[in-house]
Amino acid sequence: QNEIYARGTLDNIKPTVTTDPNKLEEQAKKHLPATSYNYVAGGAGERATMDANRLAFRQWKLVPRMLRDTTHRDVTVELFGKKYDSPLLVAPVGVQVIFNEDKETGVAEVASQLGVPYITSSASSSSMEEIAQANGAGPRWYQLYWPQDNDITISLLNRAKKAGYEVLVVTLDTWALSWRPWDLDEAYVPFLKGIGDQAGFTDPVFRKKFAEKHGKEIEDDILTASKEWAGHIFSGAAHTWDQIDLLKKHWDGPIVLKGIQHVDDARLAVEKGVDGIVVSNHGGRQLDGAVGSLDVLPEIVDAVGDKLTVLFDSGIRTGVDIIKALSLGAKGVLIGRPWVYGLAVGGKLGAKDALRGLLADLDQSMGLAGIQNISECKRSMVRRVQYPG
Ligand code: FNR
Repeated sequence: QNEIYARGTLDNIKPTVTTDPNKLEEQAKKHLPATSYNYVAGGAGERATMDANRLAFRQWKLVPRMLRDTTHRDVTVELFGKKYDSPLLVAPVGVQVIFNEDKETGVAEVASQLGVPYITSSASSSSMEEIAQANGAGPRWYQLYWPQDNDITISLLNRAKKAGYEVLVVTLDTWALSWRPWDLDEAYVPFLKGIGDQAGFTDPVFRKKFAEKHGKEIEDDILTASKEWAGHIFSGAAHTWDQIDLLKKHWDGPIVLKGIQHVDDARLAVEKGVDGIVVSNHGGRQLDGAVGSLDVLPEIVDAVGDKLTVLFDSGIRTGVDIIKALSLGAKGVLIGRPWVYGLAVGGKLGAKDALRGLLADLDQSMGLAGIQNISECKRSMVRRVQYPG
C-alpha cells in the first residue's frame, strides 16, 4: 500500500483522485452537473448532522505506541464467520449512473479486485444480477429498502439469494425521504431516472403488478414506473420491530440493520435475533439535527457489542477515522461519499483509487500508531479531547 505514496512523491505518478479528503468534494464538483453534485454532497436540513459526523471524529484522537513490531500489518477481519481482506465495505449508494456511466457495475468490479465487499443498493441504476455478474467472485451484500408490499420484498430477497449476495442489510432510516433542501432546489429528475433504470424495473413481481394496475408495460411509461418504484422503496409508511420476523423467514443468511443510533434500538435488535447492526445516520442525509454517528458508537458497543456484530458508517474520510471507529468497537466500516466522489472524477478507476487510498492510509497509519492487527484497535488507543473552537 505504501507504493501509492512512494510513486506519488518520488516518481511523480499521482493517483487520479486527490488523497486530500478536504479537496475531494471540490474535485468531484468540477466533474458533475449541479443536480448530481447536490445529490451526493447535500444532506438533510442545514447539514447540521453531516457536520456533527465530522466533528465527532475530531473529538477522538489516537494515542500512538512506539517500538512495536508493526513493520507488516494485518488488516484482515472476520465478519459473520467469513474472513475479509480488510474492515472496509462499499456502502450502499443508489443511482450511480448520475455520477458516471461506469455506475454500479463498474464499482462492483473494482471492489472485487480490492477484496472489499460491495453492498448493492435497492435504488441502483443496474439490476442486482448485473451487479453480481460484474462483481464476479468478489464478496457482495444486498441492501434492502424495505417495501410495504410483502410480495415485492420476498421477490427481492429471493433474487438476491440466487445472485450470490451473502448478507442482507436492511436500511431502517429511509422509509420516507427526508427534507433535503439541496435536492429541492434542483430538479429531481436524474434521481428518478436512476431509480427507474434497472433496480425495480427488472423485478418480475413489480413488473406484473405494474402491468395489472396500468394495463401497460413499464417501458411504455417510464416516468410513472419510476415514481411507483420510488413509492415502494420510500413508502412513507413505517415498519415496526415485529415485522423483522418476515425478513428472517425469507432470508437464511446474516441480517444486519442499518441506521441504528439509539442504544435501546440496538438492544431491540439483539432481542429480535438479528446478526448485526450498522451504527449510521445515513451520512446526515435523513434526520437533520440528529447526533453525530460516532458519538453514539461507544455506548452501543458497550450495550450489545458482545451479542451481535456492530458495523459503523457516517463521516469516515481517512485511514485514521477507520482506526478510531474500530478502536471504539466497530468490527467493520462502510465507506460512502469518498468513493462516490472518486467515481465522479475518474469513473470506476477513480472509485478504485479512492478506496485504495483509504486502504493505504489505514495500513500506514496503523503502523505509525503501533497497531499490528485490527484486534489491537482498542479503546486504550483513543482518547476523547475537547479543544476550544
Ligand atoms: C447513500 N446512502 C445510502 N444508503 C442506503 O442504505 N441505500 C442507498 O441507496 C443509499 N444511497 C446513497 C446515495 C448517496 C449519494 C450517498 C452519499 C449515500 C448512505 C450510505 O450508505 C452511507 O450510510 C453514508 O454515505 C455514510 O456517510 P458518509 O461517510 O458518506 O458521509
